[in-house]
Amino acid sequence: MLLTTIQAKRAALRGALLACRERTLALTSDLQAADCDQQPHPDFSPVGWHLGHIALTEAYWILERLAGQPPLYPQYRRLFAADGLPKTERQHLPPLDRLLQCLAVVRSRVLDYLMTAPLPEQERLWYWLLQHESQHNETITFLLQLRRWQPWGEGWQMGQRPSPSPREDMVTLAAGSIQLGSEAIAAQDHERPLYRIDLPAYALDRFPVTCQDFQAFINAGGYQRREFWSEAGWRWLQEQPVDRPLYWLAAPEWANHPVCGVSWYEAAAYAHFVEKRLPTEAEWAQAARWAGDRACSRAYPWGDTPPSATRCNYDGLVGHTTPVDAYPAGQSASGCWDLLGNVWEWTATPFAGYPGFVPYPYRGYSQAYFDKRHYVLRGGSWATRPWSLRASSRNWYEPGVRQILAGFRCARSL
Ligand code: AVJ
Ligand code: FE
Repeated sequence: MLLTTIQAKRAALRGALLACRERTLALTSDLQAADCDQQPHPDFSPVGWHLGHIALTEAYWILERLAGQPPLYPQYRRLFAADGLPKTERQHLPPLDRLLQCLAVVRSRVLDYLMTAPLPEQERLWYWLLQHESQHNETITFLLQLRRWQPWGEGWQMGQRPSPSPREDMVTLAAGSIQLGSEAIAAQDHERPLYRIDLPAYALDRFPVTCQDFQAFINAGGYQRREFWSEAGWRWLQEQPVDRPLYWLAAPEWANHPVCGVSWYEAAAYAHFVEKRLPTEAEWAQAARWAGDRACSRAYPWGDTPPSATRCNYDGLVGHTTPVDAYPAGQSASGCWDLLGNVWEWTATPFAGYPGFVPYPYRGYSQAYFDKRHYVLRGGSWATRPWSLRASSRNWYEPGVRQILAGFRCARSL
């Protein structure tokens, strides 16, 4: 490979690593000690654990595995390994300044190594690592939101909005055999390889479901009426009764924002209520990547230009959701709005590998979750970093999780 090409790759990676780290550190700038080592919810590790885990993951994959250096911070290895301690035992952490020091020490060695690393053969792992920090970055964002979540002002009261009728605006997609998946250098194991799939014709909501739409479900007694819920969903609701989305905002100025903080069960119940269903993952992806032919190879709904603040709400630039029709320049060729950013969108599809799946960089990264209990989310949220935001990205959580920045849109078979 030409020297200039390698140097350009090095510079691109270095810039991205620095920019990503700037965002990680910005999240910690006004962190209280309690924010750092207390669990905001039993299903999630404390923010400080995520910081140590970012540092140790980087030390392991880049310094040990690629550079062949001896382990750095072996005393923290078990504490910050994803499969080390149970989440409840992750609260006795080194102080924040020590965690920040670990991050800085690892990073300076990593940037030194990057200067001479044989990049062409390693590039995929570097982009994986960058996305690893991006993903933990998003988790830190919603954990901090969760700790501080205060329903904002007067609008919190229920039932204040008149009973609206949910939007009926849908786009239609014709039946066909299409290609999905991605082989981009940043694509993760679960996005690869390319594969073909036959889809029947369907209609998909032009916009994500808004707070105004969802108010109709609440007003109709949606959380009390068994008939909208699956058996597992109803059981979930009885075990931890809720009567509105977790990040619910009832004030009129939020009416046109997407619902955020719903479990898969709530999304599916709403879809049932409006006589629709959740889209399959492939239906969502076709709507996001279609460009007029069957290849469905667009990197973003609007084309191949990287995201920016005029296309979608991402990267924490706004700091919360935005109205679903705020980004005309973010529309897909199929006519859908707001597919990337704002809120992750639940799909009907259990998380699994595409045909020909090969684990990378380790089995536990994706394959361990191909267990029929996790469902795929697509599209990214207002907190998703640019390195993880693309039309082929997949996320996965269990159906009862509602702490993530997730909403949904509905589909209907034709
Ligand atoms: C894809 C967001 C579900 O945070 O649990 C981070 C990503 N995997 N470190 C997670 C991940 C290993 C993962 N999610
Ligand atoms: Fe991780």
